[in-house]
Amino acid sequence: MKFFIDTANLEEIKEAHSLGILDGVTTNPSLMAKAGIKGRENILKHYKKIADIVPGDVSAEVISTDFDGMIKEAMELAEIAPNIVIKIPMIKEGLKAIKYLSDQGIKTNCTLVFSSGQALLAAKAGATYVSPFIGRLDDISSEGMQLIADIRLIYDNYAYETKILAASIRHPMHIIESARIGADVVTTPLKPLLSLLNHPLTDKGLAKFLEDYRKSQE
Ligand code: E4P
Repeated sequence: MKFFIDTANLEEIKEAHSLGILDGVTTNPSLMAKAGIKGRENILKHYKKIADIVPGDVSAEVISTDFDGMIKEAMELAEIAPNIVIKIPMIKEGLKAIKYLSDQGIKTNCTLVFSSGQALLAAKAGATYVSPFIGRLDDISSEGMQLIADIRLIYDNYAYETKILAASIRHPMHIIESARIGADVVTTPLKPLLSLLNHPLTDKGLAKFLEDYRKSQE
C-alpha cells in the first residue's frame, strides 16, 4: 500500500518525506487555504515546491466546475511538474474532464467520492485514482470503510486499473482497515501517520533494553 500525506503544509510534507516511506501528496483548496497560500500565482508556485520535495504523485485540484474551465486549469497544472496529478470533483462535467484527460495520458484523481456508483463511473472514465472520503461518511453516521470494501470488490470484478486512494482519514485505524481491505493508497494527515509508530510495549521494552545495557557498562 502506498502512503500519501494529505496536507499543503511544507514542514509536514518534509517531515513525512524524511521518514523515507512517503509515496505522494494530496492537497485540496481547503488545505491550501489552511497553509496560508493565497492568490493563483502563489498556489501554482506552492504546487511546484511540493512536487520538488516529493518525487511521487502530487494531486493538485481544479476549482472550475465546467468542462472547459477544468481542462484549461488541468493543462496549466500539468505543466508545473511531471508528477502533478489533476484532482477533479465527481460531477458530470468532472467525469467528462477525467475521460478527456485520461485519453490524453494525463493522470487524474477523482475526488469527493461518496458512493460505489461514483467510483464505478470514475473507473469507466479512466481515472488514475479514485478518492472515497471515509471520514466524512463516518461523520454522517455512514460506514466509510464499507465503501472502500465495496469499491475494491467492484474494481476487482472487472480488473479496473483505477487505484483506490482512501481519503479523509481521521485516525490510524482508518489506515489499518484500508490496508486490510486492500486500498491501493491511503492519504493521511501527519498525525494518524505518526500514530502508527506508537506502542507502549515498544517504549517499555526499549527502556528496559537501554537500562540493562547501561548496567552492563558499570
Ligand atoms: C484528499 O484527497 C481529501 O481532499 C481529503 O482527504 C479530505 O479530508 P477531510 O475530510 O479531512 O477534509
